[in-house]
Amino acid sequence: MQVSFARNAKDAKPLYAVRAADLKGWLANRPKREQAYLASTGFTAKDGESCLIPDAQGGLASAVLGLGKGEDILALATFAERLPAGTYRFADVPAAQGGANGALAWALGTYEFARYKKQKTKGAKLVLPAGVDGAEIARIAEGIFLGRDLINTPPNDMGPEELAAAARDLAKKHGAKFSVIVGDALKKANYPLVYAVGQGSDRAPRLIDLTWGRASARKVTLVGKGVCFDTGGYDLKPSSGMLSMKKDMGGAATVLAIADMVMGAKLNVRLRVLIPAVENSVSGHAYRPSDVFKSRKGLTVEIGNTDAEGRLTLADALAYAAKHIKPDEMVDMATLTGAVVIALGQGVSGVMASDDGLCGRVLAAADAAGERMWRLPLHDEYRDGLKSDIADLNNISSQRGAGAIVAALFMREFTSGIPWAHLDIAGTAFTERDLPLGPKGATGVTVRTLLGYISDMDGRR
Ligand code: BES
Ligand code: MN
Ligand code: ZN
Repeated sequence: MQVSFARNAKDAKPLYAVRAADLKGWLANRPKREQAYLASTGFTAKDGESCLIPDAQGGLASAVLGLGKGEDILALATFAERLPAGTYRFADVPAAQGGANGALAWALGTYEFARYKKQKTKGAKLVLPAGVDGAEIARIAEGIFLGRDLINTPPNDMGPEELAAAARDLAKKHGAKFSVIVGDALKKANYPLVYAVGQGSDRAPRLIDLTWGRASARKVTLVGKGVCFDTGGYDLKPSSGMLSMKKDMGGAATVLAIADMVMGAKLNVRLRVLIPAVENSVSGHAYRPSDVFKSRKGLTVEIGNTDAEGRLTLADALAYAAKHIKPDEMVDMATLTGAVVIALGQGVSGVMASDDGLCGRVLAAADAAGERMWRLPLHDEYRDGLKSDIADLNNISSQRGAGAIVAALFMREFTSGIPWAHLDIAGTAFTERDLPLGPKGATGVTVRTLLGYISDMDGRR
């Protein structure tokens, strides 16, 4: 989906956004007629409250949006969601919500997924605010739309092969190096856990690998969970839990969206993207609970539960990155655990990290991007739960609780001391309700945070 702004600013209707605390002062400078109208509607400028203001002829004159305390820098997305067809411009909005933030919020709010049915296009157009780089806004929004499209696409059209094709297209677009290891070749190339998780599906598992940027630049590796559909395997999910599992490649879609922006902006970093792409299926050749596999790193892993598959595929990818790429820092993104949804809900992503500096920069980038994230501790004592009687590790814990942390502790075993952060986006990658920033479905969450984090890495050279 292409992002565009209105070409002609003539006759664009003015838009206003006002914090609740500023309402009185703002109203004082409005014409009497508008003051009376807003008073009659009971407008108090609380967060998300909007009002269309008529002109003397009964046409639409302007619109005003309440910002409440003014904490949401992307609040103006609500305009794109609610305004009728027409051309608009930001007339008087606070600096935090206006300019580039306003243009981006608006752009994100126009997203629709129209692959399988025509969607009602809202038809409201924004005049690009003065001084805003429209190409940059389009690059960010279109990167997020790419990620959203990949997640929203149903699993019959988004298997490991289609995911790899999307990565290949992206590599081609930006002149990145692309390679993929498919099916039996994963065994030879030593990705035993990726192979094991994918072996039950007739759609061959694969390891997607993308490289871009100057070899001498700071190295950052992004790893994305690419479980194109998660049935749970023999530890089959109940239908309620399985229904949403097309989103289980959300981490992969997210890292591809980030790569699109980093390459598009030509940031001075050496970027590597690894995606273990699999389908976790049930069949006569699927892996079983109690199977034991020797991982890429050499640690043997007993399968306590075939539904804890994401950490297995990521373990091999992280082990490869740590040993062969040796990045300065690596970040994985994954719809990894139901436990993080219990802990943090659908509005906050979980962050776990082996390195405080790295974690601090990711959290600061989240703050700047207006995305909510919260660090969970990698409490060492919980590692004991991952012991196995007959292997080096079990993929699930024998102890209760802290499922999101336990999954991260499992993966940490494969990171060989390379500074590493793990983002669990199980609760945030997909929304069940329409939001100002986009309709029901994939959100593209953490993409802008990681763009900020990697931009900062470029700046620190
Ligand atoms: N893909 C799921 C996690 C998930 C759950 C994502 C809900 C989004 C929404 C993951 O593979 C999984 O099944 N995790 C299990 C782990 C358990 C078996 C230790 C879980 O969280 O229940
Ligand atoms: Mn699972
Ligand atoms: Zn999964």
